[in-house]
Amino acid sequence: MQNSDNIDNIIDRVLFSQDDIEEICQRLGKQLTEDYAGKFPLVIGVLKGAVYFMTDLTRHMNVKMQNDFMDVSSYGDGFESTGKVRLDIDVQADVKGRDVLLVEDIVDTGHTLKFMKDLLIERGAKSVKCCALLNKTERREDDVVVDYYGSKVENEFVVGYGLDYLNAYRNLPYVGVLKPEVIQANLNR
Ligand code: XMP
Ligand code: MG
Repeated sequence: MQNSDNIDNIIDRVLFSQDDIEEICQRLGKQLTEDYAGKFPLVIGVLKGAVYFMTDLTRHMNVKMQNDFMDVSSYGDGFESTGKVRLDIDVQADVKGRDVLLVEDIVDTGHTLKFMKDLLIERGAKSVKCCALLNKTERREDDVVVDYYGSKVENEFVVGYGLDYLNAYRNLPYVGVLKPEVIQANLNR
């Protein structure tokens, strides 16, 4: 394989290994199993970043649940969220009266999560909680609660395990920090 084909090349350092992620999924899954016992939650994965986390996390949730997905995007340049959030793919299920658990890859400014929580509450959901793999607390701009999360992260751009840079690298099996020169090279293009 040519060196340039190795997608690990763009990683500065690994933040969460496959084992770390498995441990997080087990811990959160156990907690969610307790908290949603007997509730038949509607678990909504936020596309596309939460796909990997959603499948691993829910396999550790020993509760009867319904799975669904929605896609939202915030206008931006790949790094910065602008605060304007748009609904791209709506959830199929009727959320009225349901206990909804949103599964997110990362909560950053909180604009996306706030938008989704407000929307689902407005539609009559009984409860709306969020379980995010990562929580970038330093950049929070909206007063929104991340009810469950795997780990806090510093203000660095992370990729892998669902998280992308310019729509690539989601399939890395771990979460890592992108090399600054990769970002720089794209800024200079
Ligand atoms: P907000 O700011 O609305 O953003 O909380 C949430 C969305 O922004 C993306 N995001 C990232 N994506 N690495 C990524 O690949 C990051 O470090 C990062 N920080 C924010 C992500 O799509 C998330 O759902
Ligand atoms: Mg996302």
